[in-house]
Amino acid sequence: MSVLIAPSLLAADFSNLARDIAAAERGGADLLHLDVMDGHFVPNLSLGPTVVKAVRRVATVPLDVHLMIEQPDRYIESFVEAGASMISVHVEASRHLHRTIAFIKGLGIRAGVAINPATPVSALEEIAPDVDHVLVMSVNPGFGGQTFIPRSESKIRAVRHLLDRAGSRVPIEVDGGVDTSNAARLVAAGVNILVAGTTIFRAPDPERAVRELREAATAPAGQRV
Ligand code: DX5
Ligand code: ZN
Repeated sequence: MSVLIAPSLLAADFSNLARDIAAAERGGADLLHLDVMDGHFVPNLSLGPTVVKAVRRVATVPLDVHLMIEQPDRYIESFVEAGASMISVHVEASRHLHRTIAFIKGLGIRAGVAINPATPVSALEEIAPDVDHVLVMSVNPGFGGQTFIPRSESKIRAVRHLLDRAGSRVPIEVDGGVDTSNAARLVAAGVNILVAGTTIFRAPDPERAVRELREAATAPAGQRV
């Protein structure tokens, strides 16, 4: 499976979203990652379906919507209508996770689960066969620009083993503190989708930053940073 780069718009310039999206796409972004925060599940507020819809109008790549909200079922249809191609819900925020995943899939898009740093991999045990992707948080959700939690690397290996045991080959997405120094190790651990906000949009040249992240992620072992 090849590596996909998903720039996180949380770190983009919201007064110049179309410009930043175009730059990321010129650099070869495969997806755009949109972080939805409700001020309850995480201590921050971000964007809702209106912004997703606006991004859909200017973007050419699929939209990867990460719901960091309580009671996600209440808003899933709005995000699908707004143009999400894939939605991740947190296992910590979903009381009836199996129903939520089935609901998302029933709307015709990809359904994934996200797990926080302190959530054990075993929380995925029963739902693993049903999901289209798994998002491993490598920082505590709520803010961009945080430092990667090193234990996330071994956690990703454990998630990959769990998926293997479940007979699933779905992609693993890693989110938080991803940069050119850890990308290759994360891919070696089993990651297929690298989410990166600060590394891309706080770089002087976001287009180049996407290319550099891909190069770092796919570098042969001997050349890794
Ligand atoms: C954090 C979000 C991330 C965030 C990552 O809660 O889920 O997607 O944008 O930002 P960086 O890449 O700056 O850690
Ligand atoms: Zn995210």
